[in-house]
Amino acid sequence: MGEPTWTREKLQRLVYREIGDYQLIVVSNRQPYVHEMVEGKLSYTSTAGGLTTAIDPLMQECGGTWVAYGGGKGDSIAVDANNRIQVPPDDPSYTLRLVWLTEQEEQGYYAGFSNEGLWPLCHNAFIEPTFQLSDWETYKSVNNVFAEQVLDEIDGRPAAVFTQDYHLALLPRLLREADPDIITGQFWHIPWPTYEIFRICPWGEELLDGLLGNDLLGFHIGDHCDNFMEAAGRVLGSQVHDEYNLVYQREEPTLVRPFPISVDFEQINQESQSPEVTEEMDRLIEELNLGGKVIGLGIDRIDYTKGIPHRIRAIGRFFEKYPEYIGQVVFVQAGVMSRANIHAYQQLSDQINVELESVNGRFCTDDWQPILYLPDDLPAVTLAAFRRIARFCVVSSLHDGMNLVAKEYVASRFDEDGVLILSPFTGSAHELTDSVIVNPYATEDFATAICEAVEMPYEMRRERMKRMRGVVEENNIYMWAARLFVDMMQGTRRSHRPIRSP
Ligand code: G6P
Repeated sequence: MGEPTWTREKLQRLVYREIGDYQLIVVSNRQPYVHEMVEGKLSYTSTAGGLTTAIDPLMQECGGTWVAYGGGKGDSIAVDANNRIQVPPDDPSYTLRLVWLTEQEEQGYYAGFSNEGLWPLCHNAFIEPTFQLSDWETYKSVNNVFAEQVLDEIDGRPAAVFTQDYHLALLPRLLREADPDIITGQFWHIPWPTYEIFRICPWGEELLDGLLGNDLLGFHIGDHCDNFMEAAGRVLGSQVHDEYNLVYQREEPTLVRPFPISVDFEQINQESQSPEVTEEMDRLIEELNLGGKVIGLGIDRIDYTKGIPHRIRAIGRFFEKYPEYIGQVVFVQAGVMSRANIHAYQQLSDQINVELESVNGRFCTDDWQPILYLPDDLPAVTLAAFRRIARFCVVSSLHDGMNLVAKEYVASRFDEDGVLILSPFTGSAHELTDSVIVNPYATEDFATAICEAVEMPYEMRRERMKRMRGVVEENNIYMWAARLFVDMMQGTRRSHRPIRSP
């Protein structure tokens, strides 16, 4: 493969040139480094996922501040008197400033309004959103807490604030009201629903007005931008210029654009070739008795949007329809428990167990089990090894902004083998058109798709994987960050801002 278009170094050069004298502040609910106390000693872990991968290098170059909720048990010990700590811990180059929330605040703002209200509102997974007035009040006050901290950090200097996700929809407006010169950008990491669905939210106007305090608002795909612009026009009566992707609210423009998020292709590609991963593959094949079998793989945060019960049902149907594969195919489902104190997630966990028992109970033999369920936080090396062992990987989301598991699988297959089975309701399906696309609700088709993946000839697997790898290599995480950053810094309100010469 040729030289990738965007690299970390290229992104860093761009950021240096664009940022000028502005201070860069990133704000998110989750922090990039979490501190824990292990046997009386302070240790840290870097949080996985696209956000840290993309923004950490950007911050390392700018030396700005990342403001986030301090949820780790060792966080309060790690920070200084101003709640700041220099990170990355091993080679510090920027400031992490932690915000403390009470249990009641975390409950109302994070578990309540963000995850029981906005999360199901924005995902078509048929879970009814819960809108509690007390959660909304807490969400508003926590957004205010974040605003105070950010303003304190900015301290009147020129600043660009890049907010992440649905936990902080009101923050941009609060910032702009306090200081209209702040450059504001936000990326919404989940889908945006249609107007018909959005309007059930009792506080839709406030949410939209909050988000329209941004100079730039990014979504994964064009459909989500269109849904947002329609809601702004119909709920708020904002002026919408579809042809320029601009929404005018309070006579000021917000540029609304798609930025499909991605992964660090090169890093995943390299890491999956390491001897540690090869050793781990041998260990897993031996310990889990996978030798000579065709392996399927699912890796998910255990969330009702991921279609895990649908997937298990389809695997059951696959063995019913194609009994010749009994004893020959093993499906490994890895998962990370998530948001475990929310009722819908507890119910999902029970539902998964029932579906698993049904399929494993029906088809199990003395020395073979169709589905191995590993709902543990598995080490990165184990996940990398599973990606390489797997003949096919299944992403069956009922709705998903992007889904990076799909892109990680593709990036890790340097051997150009493997089949991706992908739900059309993911953002990734727009780019990974060489996957086997199947509707997770259509159990019969899903079972057929699994058979197609198992039987796909090597040459065809190779051609399709090669093309998908080309797409992810080109549209990598650095391209995502670079495009967002340029649009944020050069937004309509800011077109006259001077740029540093290269
Ligand atoms: C989604 C959100 C992310 C979030 C992730 C994990 O992908 O868009 O912002 O980090 O879920 O959720 P959690 O609630 O554990 O932060």
